Amino acid sequence: MRYNIFYRVHKALRTMLYETAIKLQRTDFNNEDEAKAIIQNITSMVDLFDKHAYVEDTLVFPAVGQYEPSVVDAFEKEHVKDHELSQKLITLAAISGSLEAADEKIQLGSVVRKSFVEFLVFNLEHMAKEEHIINNLLWRYYSEEEIHAIEQKIISSQTPESVAIVAKWMLRGLSNQEIIRWFKTVEKNAPESVFNNLFKTAEKELPHDRFYKVIEGLTEGVMLA
Ligand SMILES: [Fe+2]
Repeated sequence: MRYNIFYRVHKALRTMLYETAIKLQRTDFNNEDEAKAIIQNITSMVDLFDKHAYVEDTLVFPAVGQYEPSVVDAFEKEHVKDHELSQKLITLAAISGSLEAADEKIQLGSVVRKSFVEFLVFNLEHMAKEEHIINNLLWRYYSEEEIHAIEQKIISSQTPESVAIVAKWMLRGLSNQEIIRWFKTVEKNAPESVFNNLFKTAEKELPHDRFYKVIEGLTEGVMLA
């Protein structure tokens, strides 16, 4: 089984899509606070997707592009389409926030929902394609060490704030076992402060029973040693 460089970050993005989708379904566009909250939510979600596409364009695709330029070209075109969809979505969301009449707000609310679904469907398919096609090419041309090196380069290109936001969504989208395995790798390879920050985020983001299971998983064996 080769390393899937997209696995955790795509789970984070999907979690953000799904949670925002549910919140959007529940939003009453006539309620100012609810409308404001969902517009803010959609805006930060789109920002994360845009940043992620930029990382792929600059740090992942070039690795494949030197061997398979036409594949990379097709994926870059998908990112352009993705950006068009996200711009449409945030524009509509912003308009919905500027309307006065109650029935217009409701009408625009359903236009926003349609636009959101379009964005969601496109991105679910796009991410699945990346995990299939781009991964297979990475695996063909690069060793495990080289793929991990690409990932390290990505992490060090990010601000601590962006790393923290993505980590939060990863935690919300990963299984307990996946979190335990991830934390063990970080504990082994990253500075102590990185692990401590991640641990604090887990304490904040995970429900108590899940957090407890993660601690159990991390300390398993340690007590006996
Ligand atoms: Fe992408």
